[in-house]
Amino acid sequence: MPAIPLPMSAHKPIRKAVFPVAGLGTRFLPATKAIPKEMLPIIDRPLIQYAVDEAREAGIEQLIFVTGRGKTAIVEHFDMAFELETTMKDRAKKLEVLEPTRIQPGNLVTVRQQVPMGLGHAIWCARAIVGDEPFAIFLPDELMIGQNDGSGGCMKQMVEAYNQVGGNLISVLEVPEEEVSSYGVIDPGARVAGIGAALTEVKGLVEKPPRGTAPSNLIISGRYILQPEVMRVLEGQSAGAGGEIQLTDAMAQMIGTQPFHAVTFAGRRFDCGNKIGFVEATLALALEREDMADEVRAMALRLLGVQG
Ligand code: G1P
Repeated sequence: MPAIPLPMSAHKPIRKAVFPVAGLGTRFLPATKAIPKEMLPIIDRPLIQYAVDEAREAGIEQLIFVTGRGKTAIVEHFDMAFELETTMKDRAKKLEVLEPTRIQPGNLVTVRQQVPMGLGHAIWCARAIVGDEPFAIFLPDELMIGQNDGSGGCMKQMVEAYNQVGGNLISVLEVPEEEVSSYGVIDPGARVAGIGAALTEVKGLVEKPPRGTAPSNLIISGRYILQPEVMRVLEGQSAGAGGEIQLTDAMAQMIGTQPFHAVTFAGRRFDCGNKIGFVEATLALALEREDMADEVRAMALRLLGVQG
């Protein structure tokens, strides 16, 4: 494959983010029969809200949702609910609670993925809106919670690293050996010193490697900063693991032609694409919320039959 020259866009700021949200959410049926899985709440905010908050914290302005049938509730969530707001005002209720759902006019764009053909295909569906700018990707199933030390959320940490090294970045984390085959896995190169975040060169990428063949136990954890050239690669991409057009395969082709780094997120990640991860996230966040921590802790101990 011919080398893709590193374009001027390699250091442009990250202003756009793609959220692939067309998935059917079959793991959460029947809850997700009429409700998008991205609208399932962790306490009182839908999953998609956490990802959007993380994007905004990182300075991202334009949100591009790749949606499908039955996903309109996601767009409604970020619209103004005129009747609701009027009624709340009439009843002297505070509107601040709706603040995170407000989007600047023109900053929310949706494109449709008509047929579920894989993550790579979903991202490619956003090509006209992404244009020739580098862009972020958020998989909202992965809930990333930053530490309380000012280092910020996952994308903020990635954007800070990007501002120093440019090119392409993915977030990675270590998982036990037996879980590796469910994810995209990196072949790690040298550690990059002198950057705030823990940064590693990426020598190779493989999507859902069969057991015993993975190059490491460092998996891609649902956050990406990619150069727009990935769209050109996706254009000609054939189906990979699971018969789907895989983003990982397209990224693998860009290694060696553009800088490619992995950021190890300093924070916690909950895989809310499965039920146990979802329950864990709910409990962990509830135990940290000032307005409910004491009661939830007492309740958890009571349920476990432990003396408080
Ligand atoms: C996708 C990606 C995979 C990544 C994972 C993170 O897989 O293809 O590389 O590790 O998300 O959640 P999926 O979960 O869609 O099978």
